[in-house]
Amino acid sequence: MDKLAIIGGRPLYGEIPISGAKNSALKVMAASLLSDAPLKLLNVPRLADVDMLLRLLEQHGAVSEFEGSTLTLHAKDIISTEAPYDLVRKMRASFNVLGPLLAREGKAKVSLPGGCAIGARPVDLHLKALTAMGAKIELDEGYVFAEAPDGLKGADIAFPFVSVGATEHAMLAAVRAKGTTTIENAAREPEIADLANCLNAMGANVSGAGSSTITIEGVAALNGAEHAVLPDRIETGAYIMAVAATGGELTLKGARADLLGAAWAVLEEVGIDLEELDDGLRVKRAGERCTATDIVTQPFPGFPTDLQAQFMALMTTADGVSTIKETIFENRFMHAPELGRMGAKISVDGQTATVRGVARLKGAPVMATDLRASMSLVIAGLAAEGQTMVNRVYHLDRGFERLEEKLQACGALIERIKE
Ligand code: EPU
Repeated sequence: MDKLAIIGGRPLYGEIPISGAKNSALKVMAASLLSDAPLKLLNVPRLADVDMLLRLLEQHGAVSEFEGSTLTLHAKDIISTEAPYDLVRKMRASFNVLGPLLAREGKAKVSLPGGCAIGARPVDLHLKALTAMGAKIELDEGYVFAEAPDGLKGADIAFPFVSVGATEHAMLAAVRAKGTTTIENAAREPEIADLANCLNAMGANVSGAGSSTITIEGVAALNGAEHAVLPDRIETGAYIMAVAATGGELTLKGARADLLGAAWAVLEEVGIDLEELDDGLRVKRAGERCTATDIVTQPFPGFPTDLQAQFMALMTTADGVSTIKETIFENRFMHAPELGRMGAKISVDGQTATVRGVARLKGAPVMATDLRASMSLVIAGLAAEGQTMVNRVYHLDRGFERLEEKLQACGALIERIKE
């Protein structure tokens, strides 16, 4: 497993291009299974998760061509409606092929994704939505067996709480169901509107995406289309925290302020200067240190759980005491003890972490436990005195495109050590 060696203490100066959003790319890629015509996707990040889904889509019959960041997927014929354990277990977003396969072929057998490090992450809401649309679902030997021989039917779906994946999954199935589907208490993340835009470009009829109520008029078939994936708001936030932790000034090319939701005000509150440019953001820390503040993770437009770990890294050297409450996932503080190895003062009590800012962190060997936690360790390492060795870098490769290259270009001393 590769490692990252970081010598901390250098400010970051320069420009970082923001990649397409992983969590959007994975869903629009799944949409390619809904049509027998090619779907051309622009601004797709080259990430391990994208490659993994590509392998699954190819296994279902999609032919793919990746050129730079343009990915064309053509699922002319579906040659298999089965998504095997090995390809779904490694990445939960693979589960989202179930809806499109069911909508197009009337049946699918998809492995249950199982739990993961940050929490149990069940798929009950996904299955409830598909059942409401008339799918017959059975669970056996770790697989979901789903059938809708006469096609899916539009339904009124009211989610008991907000789920990004279940909202997207319901959309991916409803676009080709007979009749109208309404989704109440839908997730409002920007990636939902991005998926709706892609589906509409393919000829679907989705309205209200980005609000709590989404309406979908089903259509019999979808066409080919071209769609550009929106910029990654989590990558954007992570680099904002990085330069806030190290000092310096970064231009984040392609970053969009409107995608940051409540995080924007929080970042300004802790002492980060954010300036909107025509095609991006300019970012620097206003003073010598950031000031502590309290956050609670919430569905969009609230503070994103996917930036919680990186924010914690920033708060370790902020002036004052910060409380961080994680409400989305039950086990998403695994970075706290690792940051502790670098001298951070963090105590965790249930869903709340209390961070007492220290003047400086010290480099140490640390272990990346999940994607966003890994990025928090990179941020801490860039700001710390001395060397930090981040082990298990494969997590980062799942979600941050060309991480070392982007940081090196801005003066960071960061190097991958191949094993
Ligand atoms: N949940 C259920 N039942 C369901 C679905 C979700 O109980 O059927 C629970 C989850 O266990 C969790 C909560 O509902 O406690 C919210 O989960 P959600 O479904 O919104 O998350 P997701 O779709 O599985 C996506 C992102 C995550 C991101 C969350 C929240 C992708 C591929 N993943 O996950 O991204 O944290 O939304 O914004 O889009 C990451 O990129 O590092 C990552 C974990």
